Amino acid sequence: MSKKKQTLTTSAGIPVADNQNSLTAGPRGPLLVQDWQLFEKHAHFNRERIPERVVHAKGSAAFGTFKVTGDITRYSKAKVFQPGTETDVLLRFSTVAGERGAADAERDVRGFALKFYTEQGNWDLVGNNTPVFFVRDPYKFPDFIRTQKRDPRSNLRSATHMWDFWSLSPESLHQVTILMSDRGLPKSYRHMNGYGSHTYSFINDNNERFWVKFHFKTRQGIECLTDAEAGEVVGGDRESHQRDLYNAIENKDFPTWRVCVQIMPEAEAETTPYNPFDLTKVWPHGDYPLIEIGELTLNRNPENYFAEVEQASFSPANVVPGISHSPDKMLQFRIFSYADAHRYRLGVNYESLPVNLPRCPVHGYHRDGRMRFDGNGGGSVNYEPNSFGGPVEDPAFREPPLSISGDADRYDHREGNDDYSQAGDLFRLMTAEQQERLFGNVARAMDGVPEEIVRRQLDHFEKADPAYAAGVAKALGLSR
Ligand code: NDP
Ligand code: HEM
Repeated sequence: MSKKKQTLTTSAGIPVADNQNSLTAGPRGPLLVQDWQLFEKHAHFNRERIPERVVHAKGSAAFGTFKVTGDITRYSKAKVFQPGTETDVLLRFSTVAGERGAADAERDVRGFALKFYTEQGNWDLVGNNTPVFFVRDPYKFPDFIRTQKRDPRSNLRSATHMWDFWSLSPESLHQVTILMSDRGLPKSYRHMNGYGSHTYSFINDNNERFWVKFHFKTRQGIECLTDAEAGEVVGGDRESHQRDLYNAIENKDFPTWRVCVQIMPEAEAETTPYNPFDLTKVWPHGDYPLIEIGELTLNRNPENYFAEVEQASFSPANVVPGISHSPDKMLQFRIFSYADAHRYRLGVNYESLPVNLPRCPVHGYHRDGRMRFDGNGGGSVNYEPNSFGGPVEDPAFREPPLSISGDADRYDHREGNDDYSQAGDLFRLMTAEQQERLFGNVARAMDGVPEEIVRRQLDHFEKADPAYAAGVAKALGLSR
């Protein structure tokens, strides 16, 4: 306590003599414009907020480790999968629809965004707590998200808009069923699974390609809230997920997930009865069993939320040698979308921010731009090719060619696509009690929705399983 305190300075380092009293003409004022320290303080304050993420604005994050326990080197040459390797990670959880101040315990999908700081660059796996998604064509993403956000006139969230869109987009049924099930409202971020959701690819040392899906199975056990329990939680604590995660880690009760993959040989994608690149579908475990590859542990809270969570940027574009993308249209568009959002939200030099900076050397030719706050490449050569020893490409990192066929066209993604079987499979694996809660959750979520829209949605439930439609209709007090 007796330690001598540091002198307060302005951001230019100039000592401040008085941080309590503005400079005024006489004790009663008015203010003097020459009190530039007062103006600087407010000018900075007025610029403290940056744009929130357009989706997944409310989030919580922690640092930790991914440890490899299995051997999948025959599928992927990625350094991050070498047996025994431990890699530092950042995991940001989020809700999707709410703004930055939204309550945590809401029925919503949860984000599960991982940054692996590997020795060959940052690998970002930007997934959710569900293995599928609401739409399968990126054209529909902004429309879908608007139905989850606020009505332009009332500024309220609109159940009518949600069910209108979903009932006109049957590909959403699988994800809607998960959202309305117990798992659509996790008790905390620690008590849910994570999924890469998309199909990605692995490339091995022989330059062979495999298709892969990532699963993160919680070791804390799945725990969920009913709508009624969530109402009570939110009434008492709007930050229940943030508090739970932060306190668990402070108390050294480190949450862990079993990391698993499903692997499909490249050629098999031609023969599966479903399109393995369709984000509204899972690969059944019976066909592609889970292979355990490692363990993910969160063990350190961020020191500063803004610097390490708000400024964190995750992008599905960031894959490292041995891991790559797939033809999934949604994934393809996400490769563009995230960096675009980061340039808007954080500025063009966002990847040099400490939380985003790779933990391996970075040798590139990007220079200048707003808020360039590192050495900007110093005096090194800034074009390529050059005769001055600048970094050069290495063909050893080339991927095997991907065979593609077909005419360029706008193909109807709903044609010949079975949107019902997997949603029905999920319904049928629920216990009678889980199904009852599903009916109640759907009925509550449909409160105030016009009957025409409700009936259109019931027709989709019917096609997944007649008992699904009957149960929801009963909960709504509607005849079928
Ligand atoms: P399995 O019986 O092998 O697996 C069922 C899966 O469903 C398990 O992963 C289980 O997760 C998960 N599950 C249970 N309840 C819910 C719920 N309310 N919301 C989301 N997931 C839940 O079946 P199949 O692989 O043949 O798939 C059958 C259905 O299971 C699919 O249509 C899909 O809806 C769902 N599912 C499948 C996944 C897959 O990758 N194959 C992944 C997740 C769901 P857990 O093991 O953690 O209890
Ligand atoms: C965040 C776009 C689909 C998971 C975001 C952001 C954008 C975006 C622009 C904000 C990024 C930022 O400001 O940092 C899209 C588009 C999609 C899509 C265009 C479809 C075409 C998905 C899917 C998943 C997903 C399918 C999961 C499988 C996430 C997560 C975040 C996020 C977890 C938050 C990342 C973080 O914690 O910073 N998305 N998204 N998105 N998205 Fe998507």
